[in-house]
Amino acid sequence: MKVPFYGHQQQYLSIKDEIDSKMQEVIMSGQYVQGPMLKQFETELAAYAGTKYAIGVGNGTDALWLSFMALGLGEGDELITHANTFFATVEAMWTAGCSAVLVDCDPQTKCIDPDAVRRAISKRTRAIVPVHLYGQCAPMREIHKIADEYGLLVIEDNAQAIDARGDDFRIGELSDAVCSSFIIQKNLGTFGDGGAVWTNHQFVNDRIRRLRNHGSGQRDVHSYGFNSRLDDLHAGVLSAKLPHIGEWSDRRIAIAEQYTAGLKDCSFITLPHARPGYRHVFHLYVIETVNPADRGRMLDYLIKNGIDAKTHYSIAIHQQEGFPWGKPVRLAGSLANAEKNAASCISLPMFPELTQEEIDYTIEVVRNWK
Ligand SMILES: Cc1ncc(COP(=O)(O)O)c(C=O)c1O
Repeated sequence: MKVPFYGHQQQYLSIKDEIDSKMQEVIMSGQYVQGPMLKQFETELAAYAGTKYAIGVGNGTDALWLSFMALGLGEGDELITHANTFFATVEAMWTAGCSAVLVDCDPQTKCIDPDAVRRAISKRTRAIVPVHLYGQCAPMREIHKIADEYGLLVIEDNAQAIDARGDDFRIGELSDAVCSSFIIQKNLGTFGDGGAVWTNHQFVNDRIRRLRNHGSGQRDVHSYGFNSRLDDLHAGVLSAKLPHIGEWSDRRIAIAEQYTAGLKDCSFITLPHARPGYRHVFHLYVIETVNPADRGRMLDYLIKNGIDAKTHYSIAIHQQEGFPWGKPVRLAGSLANAEKNAASCISLPMFPELTQEEIDYTIEVVRNWK
């Protein structure tokens, strides 16, 4: 039996009429860039997120650096994130000209460790960039408290956690901007690249709208800017998918519960930790081998047995070859938890359309290791 890692085609087929009809609508509108469908999706997304503004951009990485720029962050400014995030979080800091400060993650959730953030703050620190890693919110209350105390901005990297929630907070409630990715494999994904920023700051909205469109808000009138827009065809796909995100997240959570029940007595791995009261939407279900030396062998075993397992992410940012490529960075304190995560992580197949047979088979193969 083969268990794939993604279910893109199955998801399309499950709501084919809704997606096809939105795409037809865009095609027949004759407007494909900053047209009516983008506007509609931005309105729907802001309503869904509960923020005043949502701006569609080219991808999640651009969402990050456009937000940094719109918030006035640039050369000499330090932004703090954690070393086991996806590479793009840090890449975006450098694109905006900022310095990256890497701290450790919490050993259980793998999200940013607020105590490590506090210890890393210097005179040059201007912002914290918590990542809602694997589909679970970073501890935003703690982050917000630190930001308040030191007068820092907070930009949420929400590429992996649309529809997640904290125990007593929503994404977007405790920050200056939220950055999402809609690349196909995300929980809300289009057939290609896409991204968005949502925010309650009018100036961030206004600046990103200009920056994404060659610095222009009016025909022939420009200031310094870029080309990073969410195409209307993608906006149409996302508009068709957005009403389903709640039920898809629920299904991911139910699959995660099955994995956890089936694997909880396997002494050779540790399972994902969901913080009590948080809605963890399991963009990824990441286990760790207790012994990092076992990771490679276990990954090979899973793949040989038909399970398309992957790693997120097997090389921490500061351990990449050639790091830091002349870019400004500071490693703040021990990064031992992030390094252990990189050395021992394995992501099991996780998408809403997984069948019961595929879930059961995955559990059985993992259980039979060794
Ligand atoms: C945590 C995180 N940040 C940023 C990104 C960048 O998003 P994109 O690939 O849309 O540029 C991704 C995913 O790709 C991600 O997982």
